[in-house]
Amino acid sequence: MKQLLTTPIYYVNDIPHIGHAYTTIIADVLKKYWNLQGNDIFLLTGTDEHGQKIEGAAKKKNMDIGQYVDSIAKRFQDTWDCFGIDYDKFIRTTFVEHKISVQKAFEIMFDKGDIYKGEYEGRYCVSCESFFTQTQVFDEIYCPDCGKETQIVKEESYFFALSKYQDRLLTWYRDNAKCILPLHKKNEVIAFVEQGLQDLSITRTSFKWGIPIPEKLHDEKHIIYVWLDALISYISALGYGLTQSNAKEILQNHLDQDPCLNSNMQYFEHATHIVGKDILRFHAIYWPAFLMSLDVPLPKHIFVHGWWTINGVKMSKSLGNVVNPLEIQQAYPMDIFRYFLLKEVPFGQDGDFSQTALINRNNGELSNDLGNLLNRLQGMSEKYFNFELKESFCRNSYHDQLEKINSITTECHVYIENMQLNKYLESVWELLYLGNEMITKVAPWELMKSNKNKECKEFLNLIANILAKAGLLLYPVMPNSCEKIARCLGFAINPANFTYLISQQGYLQDFVLTKVEALFPKIESKRIESKNADSSNNLESDILDSNNVTINQNDDSSNNQLKPHTSLNSVSIDDFSKIEIRVGTILDANRLPKSHKLLKLKVDIGDTIERQIIAGIAEYYDSKDLIGKQVCVIVNLKPAKIMSEISEGMLLVAKDSNGLSIINPEQKRENGSKIS
Ligand code: ME8
Ligand code: MG
Repeated sequence: MKQLLTTPIYYVNDIPHIGHAYTTIIADVLKKYWNLQGNDIFLLTGTDEHGQKIEGAAKKKNMDIGQYVDSIAKRFQDTWDCFGIDYDKFIRTTFVEHKISVQKAFEIMFDKGDIYKGEYEGRYCVSCESFFTQTQVFDEIYCPDCGKETQIVKEESYFFALSKYQDRLLTWYRDNAKCILPLHKKNEVIAFVEQGLQDLSITRTSFKWGIPIPEKLHDEKHIIYVWLDALISYISALGYGLTQSNAKEILQNHLDQDPCLNSNMQYFEHATHIVGKDILRFHAIYWPAFLMSLDVPLPKHIFVHGWWTINGVKMSKSLGNVVNPLEIQQAYPMDIFRYFLLKEVPFGQDGDFSQTALINRNNGELSNDLGNLLNRLQGMSEKYFNFELKESFCRNSYHDQLEKINSITTECHVYIENMQLNKYLESVWELLYLGNEMITKVAPWELMKSNKNKECKEFLNLIANILAKAGLLLYPVMPNSCEKIARCLGFAINPANFTYLISQQGYLQDFVLTKVEALFPKIESKRIESKNADSSNNLESDILDSNNVTINQNDDSSNNQLKPHTSLNSVSIDDFSKIEIRVGTILDANRLPKSHKLLKLKVDIGDTIERQIIAGIAEYYDSKDLIGKQVCVIVNLKPAKIMSEISEGMLLVAKDSNGLSIINPEQKRENGSKIS
C-alpha cells in the first residue's frame, strides 16, 4: 500500500536540536517497519520558512532573508543526511511549487465560500505563530502555550470558517479510533472542540514575508498565515494543485527543483503525521478542517509525542538549552541514540535527556542482552561446528518456547500499531531474555561433553532463529547493528524474510555464520565535554548535575545557596570561569502563590529580554522593596522548573543566623556588567 509519513516541517529560526531529531527518527523507524511489511512509504520532511518569526530571525542576524533561510534549511537537510534518514522529499515552503499549491488551496476554499474578509483584533504569539481566539481574555499578556509575551494585533484579515466544521470534526474523532494517538491526547482535542470553535484568521498584512493570496482577489497586501502555508506542505510536496502547464513553468525557471506532479497525491490517501504535542491543535483541528474544505481525504493517523526536557524544562531554541544532534552523532554510534530515544520514554510522554542514561542503555541491555547473545552464538558455533548450523531443530522438543516466541512476535505488531514503541522494544527483549536463559538452562557445552552434537547443533540453530527474528524486528530502530546481525547469520533483512519469519512465524533451516565484531562495546565514559552553553550545557559532570538539582528543584525549602559537593572541594580557575555572574536590576517581584519562601522576580541583566528568576527570599524581603534593587545573578545556570515556573538564573545571597541578605555591587553598575 502507498502511504505518506510526515514529520513537521521545522522552523528555520535556528539549527536542529535533538527534539527535531526525535520526531524525524521516529518517522524513519516507522518507514523502515512499514517497508518491511511490504508497503510503499513516502517519507516527507522539510522546513517552514515564512512568517513573522523567521523574518525577525533573519533581521536579528542582519542577513538577507533568502540567504538566511537557505543556510538553515541546509543545516536541517545535512543533519538528516548525516543521520541516514531515508526521506523521499525535503519540502521547503519557499519552493515555487509550494507557493502554487498554497494559492490553489486558498482559491478553492475561497470559491467554496469558506473564506471571508473581516478584521482581526486580538493577541498574537510570534513564537508559536498563533492567534488567540476571542474567547481568551484580551488582557492575558503571556501565551498560554509557550509562556512568552504576545503582541496586540489589529489588522484586516481573511478568515477561514472553522466553526462550520466543528460537528464534522467531532464525528471524525469519534468514528476513527486511532486518528489521534495516544488516546488521552485525542480526548484533549475533543474537549477543546466541544467548547466551540471560532473562525480562524488566515492572512496577515503587517509584514511581507509570506505567500501572497491569489492574484484574482486583487488584494495584494495580504499574505497567507504561516500555519495554513505550512500545513499545505504535506500535499504541495505531493504535487497538489500542480498542472502540466504550471509544472512546466517551474521546471523551466527552477531547474534545481523537482516538482512531483499530483500523481503522488495517492500517497495522501493513507497519511500519517508525526508531531510533538506543542503543535497538536494545528494538526488535529485546523488541518482536517482545511482538508474537508478542499475535499481531500483526512489523514489516517496523527501520532503525538512528548517533549525532551533538560532538568524538567522543555528543550527549545529560545531557552538555549538545546543539545545538538550532530554532536551526539559524532560521539556515539547512531543506533544507540535511536534505541535510547525510543526506549527511554513511552511515546507521548516527556523525557529528560542525559548522556549518562544513553551510556547506561548501551552498557546494559544492548551490550549484555543483545550483543552478548550474538557473541555466545558466534563463539559456540565456531568452536563446535566451524560456523555451520545446518541442522533444524525438532519443533516438538521446544513446544513451549516456540509458543512464547510466536506470541512475542504477534504482540510486537500490536505495539507498533498502537505506537507503543517502548513496549515494542520491551517485547523484543523478551525474545533476547529467552535466548540467553535457554543457553544457560540447556548448557550446550554439557551437550557436547556428552556427545550430543546433533542436539547441540539443533539448539544453536534455534538460537540463531531467535536472533534472526530479533534482527528483523529491531532493524527499523537499529539498522546498522541489525545489518551486522544479518551478515553474521547469513540471511537478508528484507520484506520476504520479514513475512516468513515474523508474519508467518516461520523458521530458517540452515545457518552458516560469518564472524562479525562485537555489537555494542561498553562505553567507559561520557564522550561529550561541556564546551558551550548552546549545545551541551546539560552534559556537565554528575557533581554539577546533582548540585543543580539541589539548588533549583527544591521548591519551598530552597534556601537559594550554592552547596558545593564537599566544602573543601577546590576548583580550577577554568572551572570557575564557566560560571557567569552579572549585575542585574530587579524590575518586578511577586510572591508565588502557595509558597511562603519563593518570589518570582523579573530581572534586567542587560539582555534584550528580562530574566525570570525564582528566589527563596520571600521570608526576608518584601516584594515592593526589591524593585529597582541591584543584584548579582548567575546567568548561565541551566533553566529549571520550580513550582511550575521557569527559573533562569540564581541570585547571590549571604545567609547567617541573623537572616539573609542580597549581594550587590558596592556602587551602582550597568546591568549586564560581568562579575569576576
Ligand atoms: O512548530 N522535544 O516548527 P518547530 C521533542 N514549523 N520534540 C521537539 C522538541 C522537544 N523539546 N522541540 C521541538 C513548528 N520538537 C512548525 C511546524 S508543521 C506543518 C509546522 C519537534 O521548529 C516536535 O516534533 O517549532 C515539534 O512538534 C516540532 O519539533 C516543532 O518544530
Ligand atoms: Mg516550536
